[in-house]
Amino acid sequence: MLRVAVLLSGRGSNLQALIDASQTSAYPAEIVHVVANVPNAPGLTRAREAGIASSVLDHRDYESRETFDAAVTGVLKECGAELVCLAGFMRILTDTFVEAWKDRLLNIHPSLLPAFKGLNAQQQALDAGVKIAGCSVHFVRLGMDEGPIVAQAAVPVLPGDDAESLSARILIEEHRLYPMVVRLIGEKRVAVIRERVLIDADEGERAGLSKPPAH
Ligand code: GRF
Repeated sequence: MLRVAVLLSGRGSNLQALIDASQTSAYPAEIVHVVANVPNAPGLTRAREAGIASSVLDHRDYESRETFDAAVTGVLKECGAELVCLAGFMRILTDTFVEAWKDRLLNIHPSLLPAFKGLNAQQQALDAGVKIAGCSVHFVRLGMDEGPIVAQAAVPVLPGDDAESLSARILIEEHRLYPMVVRLIGEKRVAVIRERVLIDADEGERAGLSKPPAH
């Protein structure tokens, strides 16, 4: 069983999707701990109801990002987390943290990356007038919403959509995508080679990506 910790700041609907998936038979991962930086985050209630241990680390109690992140790392080490899922975690993590968890730290973002990074991605998509929107699960790198993409799902932007209706349509896909990616990682089917994610890659594909691109 892959030991997964989830970091969140709010609603926790993606946490719920991961919990629900982890309770299905033959799912290869278990949620061992939830960390919230917001004391009354609704996601904490979801953890409690599922019998999952949780910690509140209120960032305002720490004098710097470094000391906050060190505390988070302490909790993650203590619970034996092997994979960390950001799920609506609204704090920027330090480079030290991101590098320490390289290829073991996932994020879900409500856009088809690399488009519309940052806050209010759904409104950004509407403002740009795109016809297709979606969500991405990616390994976290130093830049905001950057890193090797593991999987994406697309939804149409419909006439009359506002940020709320589009977000709801994307969220349905988020709840499918995140558990699917964690399953693939739990099944050891995901490799990151030269900053590209390969799924079920055979030796030839791995070798192809390990060479520099031909120009
Ligand atoms: C989701 O839209 C996710 O893509 C983004 O933050 C939101 C979190 O929602 N990173 P929830 O807390 O999982 O319900």
